[in-house]
Amino acid sequence: MKLYDSGKIITGIVIFVILMTFPFWFNMGRAAPKPDPKLPKNVKNCVLPKDTIKTSHMQILNNWRDEVVRDNKRSFVAFDGKHFDKSLSNTCMKCHSSKKQFCDQCHNYLKVTPYCWDCHIEPKEPKESKETAEAKEPKETK
Ligand code: HEC
Ligand code: HEC
Ligand code: HEC
Repeated sequence: MKLYDSGKIITGIVIFVILMTFPFWFNMGRAAPKPDPKLPKNVKNCVLPKDTIKTSHMQILNNWRDEVVRDNKRSFVAFDGKHFDKSLSNTCMKCHSSKKQFCDQCHNYLKVTPYCWDCHIEPKEPKESKETAEAKEPKETK
């Protein structure tokens, strides 16, 4: 291969790399700060495995609402065997005791504003950092 060709190839590769990485460096320093949901420190498990709750918490909330409102079925067995009430305020928000530092972290970033809080009571926000993300474990039911 002639030197002449390899020069062209290298130029080609350089341009290719610049184009491929463009979205990354173009966005450097511009993107909104990443969401940083504070997890409860004093409990280990959510009601569903982490991956599932992360992607499907809207569905489980919908199911809970329907089961409670339509069928008065209030008891839920978590994946680790614990029993909880199917309740947004009395279960989810007991462990996730700061809406600001948990739910809102992701939702603000994504610009979703669940309308649930028009009716359901938000937890009182903990004063500042130290109390933060301490779960007040919801009562286990039978
Ligand atoms: C008993 C305490 C407890 C209850 C009740 C609870 N959670 Fe969780 N939740 C946790 C813990 C602990 C984690 C972190 C789990 C892990 O790291 O495996 C978590 C994780 C999550 C996550 C994923 C967060 C992330 O950064 O990926 C979401 C979303 C979530 N919970 C929403 C909910 C919703 C909605 C409810 C009610 C349907 C609920 N949780 C009920 C303790 C709880
Ligand atoms: C790890 C990030 C994350 C956390 C933490 C989180 N959510 Fe979400 N939430 C999402 C995502 C992603 C969506 C889906 C947005 C979409 O589909 O447009 C969503 C959507 C929802 C919806 C449906 C809203 C709608 O208008 O469709 C509800 C209800 C909801 N979340 C409740 C909660 C509650 C309550 C908490 C706190 C206990 C919480 N979420 C914490 C990421 C999160
Ligand atoms: C217009 C008012 C209103 C709005 C808005 C609303 N709810 Fe409800 N929700 C109710 C009422 C009333 C009940 C019945 C309370 C009961 O029987 O315990 C209920 C029950 C529930 C329940 C089961 C009982 C409990 O304690 O939580 C869940 C879960 C629930 N709703 C989730 C949601 C979610 C998630 C949203 C937002 C996506 C939402 N709701 C929006 C009025 C509302």
